[in-house]
Amino acid sequence: MTDLTLVAADAATCVADQLRAAFRSRPDMEFKRDRHDPVTVHDRAAEATIRELILAAVPDSRIVGEEGGAIGEGSVHWYVDPIDGTANFVAGLAFFCTSVAAVVDGEVVAGAIYDPVRDDLFTAGPDGAYHNGSPMRSAGATAETEALLITSYPSPRELRAEGEPALGRLGRLLTEYRTLRRPGSAALSLAHVAAGWADVALGLSVNAWDLAAGALLVRQAGGRFLGLRPAGTPATANWLGPGYLATVGTLAVDGSVVLDTFAASHEVTP
Ligand code: IPD
Ligand code: CA
Ligand code: CA
Repeated sequence: MTDLTLVAADAATCVADQLRAAFRSRPDMEFKRDRHDPVTVHDRAAEATIRELILAAVPDSRIVGEEGGAIGEGSVHWYVDPIDGTANFVAGLAFFCTSVAAVVDGEVVAGAIYDPVRDDLFTAGPDGAYHNGSPMRSAGATAETEALLITSYPSPRELRAEGEPALGRLGRLLTEYRTLRRPGSAALSLAHVAAGWADVALGLSVNAWDLAAGALLVRQAGGRFLGLRPAGTPATANWLGPGYLATVGTLAVDGSVVLDTFAASHEVTP
């Protein structure tokens, strides 16, 4: 592992005991944008712990965290989601993770995603992608009709904005794919695609802290990670969001039902 991957892995795992202790305690929550968007003291405390660890290990850092915003002016840019899947975490559903990525000169160079319930550590760096230290290969379905798709589309906000047509799009994905699931953590879903435990992950309204580590994991495991941006908006790095499509390396995206479903509203950022 490179030094930055080691730091990312330490950062993603250093809050595991805290999170495991709080999990299934029905923690109090507050809401951010709306009542579908909970946050707890554990999200904030975990991010503060992670921030301290990163700054101690790599003082030349700037850290962008979901809860605490940006801190520092260094050349290594970190994107931290202390709990991705907070709605699951507060309810007691075991599908959430901590996600940490390091970006240098605009490229994601290291990433770690940790599932503290299953003790699954996913890491990626220039030398590849690993699950608990073993190399990962993103392989599985060879056709969408045989594939398992994970998506949170449409979110309540997307449904409000797009109305009934959003349900039509969901219906198309539901019927075209063998299986569609909404487990509710973009980062952990990407780690599953990297490991070949799910075939496709799709989202349209996420943030860099949800995507950066998972994008590197998928690519370094041999899968495909594409950005999806609203039509007419300028292209940025694909891991900045707001949309993404990740597939196992065995699944071609030419003629993809997902891309066709969103072709009128979204452009692909390779
Ligand atoms: C959310 C999860 C969810 C995605 C949302 C994210 P959070 O993150 O990743 O799967 O659909 O867009 O905001 O709030 O649990 O960190
Ligand atoms: Ca998140
Ligand atoms: Ca979060």
